[in-house]
Amino acid sequence: MNRFDVLFMGRPLINPFILASAPPTATPAMIERAFEAGWAGAVIKTLIDEPVRNLSNRFGINKIGNRMYAFKNIELLSELSPNEWFSGVVNLKKKFPDRLIVGSIMADARDFDGWKRLALGCQEAGMDMVELNFSCPNGYPERGKGCAIGQNEIIASEIVRNIKSDHRITLPIIPKLTPNITDIAFIGEELAKAGADAFCAINTVPSFLGFDLSTLNPKVNVNGYSTSGGYSGPGIKPIALRCVYELVSSSSIPVMGCGGCMTAEDAIEFLLLGTGVVQLATAVMFEGYPLIHKLLSGLQEFMYRHGFETVADFQGKGLQRIKHFYQLDITFKTNAIIDPETCKLCGKCVISCRDGGYQAISIMSDDICPYIDPVKCVGCSLCVHICPFDAIHMEKN
Ligand SMILES: Cc1cc2nc3c(=O)[nH]c(=O)nc-3n(C[C@H](O)[C@H](O)[C@H](O)COP(=O)(O)O)c2cc1C
Repeated sequence: MNRFDVLFMGRPLINPFILASAPPTATPAMIERAFEAGWAGAVIKTLIDEPVRNLSNRFGINKIGNRMYAFKNIELLSELSPNEWFSGVVNLKKKFPDRLIVGSIMADARDFDGWKRLALGCQEAGMDMVELNFSCPNGYPERGKGCAIGQNEIIASEIVRNIKSDHRITLPIIPKLTPNITDIAFIGEELAKAGADAFCAINTVPSFLGFDLSTLNPKVNVNGYSTSGGYSGPGIKPIALRCVYELVSSSSIPVMGCGGCMTAEDAIEFLLLGTGVVQLATAVMFEGYPLIHKLLSGLQEFMYRHGFETVADFQGKGLQRIKHFYQLDITFKTNAIIDPETCKLCGKCVISCRDGGYQAISIMSDDICPYIDPVKCVGCSLCVHICPFDAIHMEKN
């Protein structure tokens, strides 16, 4: 057994890294190149029976400094027909029998036969599982599909129940969920009752990227106009982690984690919450398929550092560390401490504590580091996060 091997829903995989349904899985030929690079599996770009015509342009980016903070798209689904996919996947499966190929489908909310026909097509082509796209936030919700389905537990459950009651369909059914819902655990529980075999969480977060202030054009500019679309990349990771946590702690079916995973460290955080695998889209759009090498070496380094022999050794380990708010220890108190050697006297901590904190930090003189009053310091840690020089840390009282 390879140390990166994982077992997902009884299926052995060469590592836990899967391409999410997105441009990197737009064609069977692209998935083939990804498998050659070492990806363990791929979710195909979502299939739909109706023709897909994409807008130009369709992507936008939010940066902090020079770094991408999040990515917005108004892309629709697969431009290939279901039959093009089905024949392509038959060939892919022959070449890469050890890789996970997950179908992804969308139909009208009430078109149960459409959902079943596409699921059956995926199964007959040899796909291992199928995601139900209940979560696309652009183009489809206004027509009652995509995340409009994922926001309605009655319709979503009806679709799952219909597919599961068709005895011809045996492949695992995986609703892909939207974060744009009040209580993701509730819809998860309802879908589990309807027969869902696993979940994928999450799809993109509905967003509007803003304006170019020099031209007043909206960002993701389609001939001077724009519309709401899906936010992905690093900025959405905390939202995705929270959704995954809600799902794994409320129903017992497996979860494929997805959303904002850019590095091995990000992926490890999903695995610590107990996801079976981790899916990536935006990171691959930015770094290409060779990203898999960085993910594997980061995973190896983490496992070596902690003495984990296999991925299963740490999957779900983080769950023990999450409690309800009122279960956290109210008697636990910390104080901020400044290291005078590292402090550069920039004064940022003084301003933040004065106007956004508890007025515990003051400047005594221009050439010595600020003083933190241990009585006024409530241990909020704002100054630690503000300090550009890592000169402040928290110490237990
Ligand atoms: C350009 C683009 C197109 C996408 N297309 C699909 C799609 O067809 N079906 C789907 O289920 N998710 C689609 N997604 C969502 C991704 O699969 C993924 O859920 C989301 O981007 C969050 O992951 P990330 O932060 O790793 O990108 C798309 C995402 C992007 C960025």
